[in-house]
Amino acid sequence: MQPKLIIHGGAGSSLKGKGAGTIRQSLYRVLETVYSLLSAGASARAAAVLGCQLLEDDPHFNAGTGSVLQSDGQIRMSAALMDGAAQRFSGVINVSRLQHPIDLAQALQSSTDRVLSDQGAAELLRELQLPIYDPLIESRLQEWLQERRGNFSHAAAGVVVEPELAVETSARTGTIGIVALDQQGHLAAGTSTGGKGFERIGRVSDSAMPAGNYATAEAAVSCTGIGEDIIDECLATRIIIRVSDGLSLEAAFERSFSEAYQRQRDFGAIGIDATGAIAWGKTSEVLLAAYHDGEQMGDTLEMTEDPQTACR
Ligand code: GLY
Repeated sequence: MQPKLIIHGGAGSSLKGKGAGTIRQSLYRVLETVYSLLSAGASARAAAVLGCQLLEDDPHFNAGTGSVLQSDGQIRMSAALMDGAAQRFSGVINVSRLQHPIDLAQALQSSTDRVLSDQGAAELLRELQLPIYDPLIESRLQEWLQERRGNFSHAAAGVVVEPELAVETSARTGTIGIVALDQQGHLAAGTSTGGKGFERIGRVSDSAMPAGNYATAEAAVSCTGIGEDIIDECLATRIIIRVSDGLSLEAAFERSFSEAYQRQRDFGAIGIDATGAIAWGKTSEVLLAAYHDGEQMGDTLEMTEDPQTACR
């Protein structure tokens, strides 16, 4: 099969001015690298892991390097990987001091215990002898210091980090995600996040739950946006079950996003099905997503109507 790929770097309110160009460049660079891997015959799962690593390394996005700070000024990250062919989910919740949280999710794919939280995730990090790494960047620290002065009045941190790119309403969150279809027709989804930003210690993100990251043999979906809204809709799983029950991917996205819009949810999602259809949807003002359909690359950055679902 011709490989397909879609990735996201968060959802929120509109990007202003030059923001879109910078984000587009970042997303397209990752698309090109990961699509080359898929074209060389790599598995969808390997593509999801590489894509997450690259986006975790990009300080524009709220995952890995560039993660937001929680209310106590600490970074705690979450990530999940789902192999659609095996229908196997693995993930880590609230892990600190590593470069690529997705590496832990990848290591847990072959474990009997497949979702670990803080202490267990830290122990796995030690067992795997992954180097200690500080994902903090100066602008996220400044963002936290500013919020502390305002007594944490925002519900979430900025979707992307530079002041000139930051979005401005309370609907501000970012996460990264990859959905891939490989030459064998297998699907996988990977998602990684620093969380909402400024949240209570112990708050659990949707990103390491099947609500935010899910895949079967029929379809794969990764979500971004306000985690509580994604969990309340059980969004990724809801979309995929609809595909398993016979809806097209586009119809599954449309129905799920129309319900979500009526319930005033704030999020976006990307997906691919086993036929190679690529889809995205959002109730947020903007979804930072880009795709490679084998012929060309495209993105959703200028799509600001609300709500919106689209399919290729
Ligand atoms: N979707 C990321 C989070 O809310 O934690």
